[in-house]
Amino acid sequence: AARPSMFKAKLTAEAAIARITEGLETPILAYNGSSPGPLIEAFEGDRVEITFANRINSEASTIHWHGMPVPADQDGNPMDPVAAGADRVYAFDLPEGSAGSYWYHPHPHGRTAEQVYRGLAGAFVVKSKADPVPAEYGDMVLMLTDLRLAADGSIPGNTMTDLMNGRVGDQVLVNGQRNPRLAVAKGDRRRLRLYNATNARFLKLAFEGAAMTIVGTDGGLIEAPVAADEILLSPGERIELVVAFDSPGLATLGTLDYDRGWMGAGRPADAGLTLLTVDVSETPGAAMPPLPTRLRPIAPLSAPAVSRRLIFAEIMAMNATGMEMGFLINGKAFDMARIDIVSRAGETELWEIVNQADMDHPFHVHGTQFQVIEHERDGKVSKPPFVAWKDTVNVARGETVRLLLRQEQPGRRMYHCHILEHEQLGMMGVLDVR
Ligand code: C2O
Ligand code: CU
Ligand code: CU
Repeated sequence: AARPSMFKAKLTAEAAIARITEGLETPILAYNGSSPGPLIEAFEGDRVEITFANRINSEASTIHWHGMPVPADQDGNPMDPVAAGADRVYAFDLPEGSAGSYWYHPHPHGRTAEQVYRGLAGAFVVKSKADPVPAEYGDMVLMLTDLRLAADGSIPGNTMTDLMNGRVGDQVLVNGQRNPRLAVAKGDRRRLRLYNATNARFLKLAFEGAAMTIVGTDGGLIEAPVAADEILLSPGERIELVVAFDSPGLATLGTLDYDRGWMGAGRPADAGLTLLTVDVSETPGAAMPPLPTRLRPIAPLSAPAVSRRLIFAEIMAMNATGMEMGFLINGKAFDMARIDIVSRAGETELWEIVNQADMDHPFHVHGTQFQVIEHERDGKVSKPPFVAWKDTVNVARGETVRLLLRQEQPGRRMYHCHILEHEQLGMMGVLDVR
């Protein structure tokens, strides 16, 4: 067999200054000086070696490879902190079939939410050597992040409302910019990978003046393209689109309203944000090859050997000492020293995620991709419209989501709500794969 090619990189996490609003300096955290961090692109079959230098002032950090099938001890879990000032190397292989839209972000115990909202996150795209999507479409990552700025340009800390609902900022940025512009020719097709890299903002997205086709999800291409008018991306999720720009003029990517169950006052406006503006020329560009009708087969996971039930719930109560708030899975808050689930490597399991809370919680598990088989709400069962590899799925309030999951590599991993404030407040568990 051919020797794998080596992919090497270095990521330094450090304080930096961003200029987002005219005349104001915003102190942020950045990888290699930029937020989002550098786009990492490697190929299936590569051996990856990334040196992480933690230069954040007096805070431990890690780099977690969200969605990728990396060994547990290379996955930047909270039990493997990298101290301030220290370096470490993360090494792993990208197996055949792993092409997809992944990302990287910190995962230190108790500090993930803040390090992410201060700017630490980047995209990690694994490419296939035999990609069925025409190269003429390009391949562009759109990382959607959510920023809140104080009057002096600084990023304020979390409030009680942020802890309850997750932190929602006041401007959604695309690759660190506010409403960037893109120019295309009439008739162009563009491959866009959209990332919800916000801490807690649900993004219901729609294109005006252009037509969207879904070609992939978190873990890579789906079997066949599916046209879509709107897409709900919960925090942590990604979607891969081919967008057709057939009418000249302006096309815009914007948001629609989505009620994710807001606690208390001050629900931010979800609808009407313009994220990206595309200038479509009058004169047609070079003819683009058509999108193939089949992308890749996905073998369904089947015959689970074990089934598990995870109940997500929150407790909100006023008592003598103030507000008591808890985010729990099966009645327990996260404890790094406790093993919540023991799984066997290579065995398919059925996980039933039950949301008994008053707000939506996007469920995420490390180290593998899963297949959602059904959603149930008010006794009504519905199947997803297509088979897909996912590592994050929204579980709406009152809903149960059933998914099939198989971990291949031993070690301790996390599963949690990807509203990062909820993860931090306890909505996370430890899975030990043996
Ligand atoms: Cu992107 Cu444990 O998370
Ligand atoms: Cu993850
Ligand atoms: Cu949550």
